[in-house]
Amino acid sequence: MKRVRKCVFPVAGMGSRFLPATKASPKEMMPVVDKPLIQYAVEEAVAAGIIDMIFITGRNKRSIEDHFDKAYEVEAELLARGKLELLELVQGIIPKHINCIYIRQPEALGLGHAVLCAEPVVNDEPFAVILADDLIDGEPPALRQMAQVYGKHECSVLGVEEVPRENTRQYGMVQTDGEEPGAVRAIVEKPSPEDAPSNLAVVGRYILSPRIFHHLATVQAGAGGEIQLTDGIAALMLEEKVLAYRFKGVRYDCGSKLGYLQAMVAYGKKHPEVGAEFTAYLKSI
Ligand code: UTP
Repeated sequence: MKRVRKCVFPVAGMGSRFLPATKASPKEMMPVVDKPLIQYAVEEAVAAGIIDMIFITGRNKRSIEDHFDKAYEVEAELLARGKLELLELVQGIIPKHINCIYIRQPEALGLGHAVLCAEPVVNDEPFAVILADDLIDGEPPALRQMAQVYGKHECSVLGVEEVPRENTRQYGMVQTDGEEPGAVRAIVEKPSPEDAPSNLAVVGRYILSPRIFHHLATVQAGAGGEIQLTDGIAALMLEEKVLAYRFKGVRYDCGSKLGYLQAMVAYGKKHPEVGAEFTAYLKSI
C-alpha cells in the first residue's frame, strides 16, 4: 500500500471575505490566538505522518514562506536577549524532517486548478489536501483519522460534516450509500438547499488518488467560472471508490468572520497561558 506522504495546501485564493485584512497578507496567516491558521494546518499534517508540505501560493504569499523558513535576525535577537523559550518556539515551528515546497499558481482559477498545480511534485501517489481556513479541533487530528480510513480502504477519502440546509450554497455537498464511512454516490458544488443531495458537506480535508489530476486537467470551469475540485471528484467517483468520512472534532470556518471569531474564543479559552483569565473575562461580560 502507498502511504500518504504529501499534503497540498492551496493558499492562493483572494480571501475577499476578510478584506481589508487580506489586502497585503494572506488569509492563512491570520492568527488564532498566537499561531497562524497555516501553522495549525501543517501541524495537523505532521500528526498524520505527512513529510512533504506543498504550498500552492499566489500573490502576497511571501509571508507564508518566511514563516516556515529560518529567521536569522529574529533568532539572533532572541538569543542575545536571553529569551530562550521564545527562541525554542520560533525554531520549533516545523520539525527538521519535513520538506516545504512552494508552487506558484499564476492565476486564481479555482481550487481544482490550485490542486492540479501540485501534480509535478505529487506524481503518482495518493496525497492529502488541507484548506487551512477550515480549522478543525480534533483528537486525533482530523487528517490522521482520515489517514487511518485510507489505510483500511485504500481509496480517496473526503472529510465531511452535517451543515444546516440553508448553508448548502457554501459547500460541495455529497450523497452517500449511508454506510460509515459512506461511498460517495453524488457530489455537487454549492447547490441551492432544494437541489442539495443531502446535508453532508465536504469541509477542507481530502485524501485523493492521483487519478484526480487527469480529471482536473479535463474538467471545464464550473460554479463561479472556476475549475472546481468538486467537479474533478465527481468524475473520479465514476471510476474509483471515493469515501465520505465524518471526522470527530469541531470545525471552525475561519474563512468567515463569524467562524473566525468562534475559533478565537474556543482556542483562547483553552490556551495554556491566557485561557483561565480569558474565560473569567468572558464570564464577566
Ligand atoms: P475560498 O473559496 O475560500 O476562496 O477558497 P478564497 O479566495 O480563499 O476566499 P474568499 O471566498 O474570497 O473570501 C478555498 C481554498 O482554495 C484556495 C484558497 O486559498 C482557499 O484555501 N484557492 C482558491 C486557491 O488556492 N486558488 C484558487 O484559485 C482558489
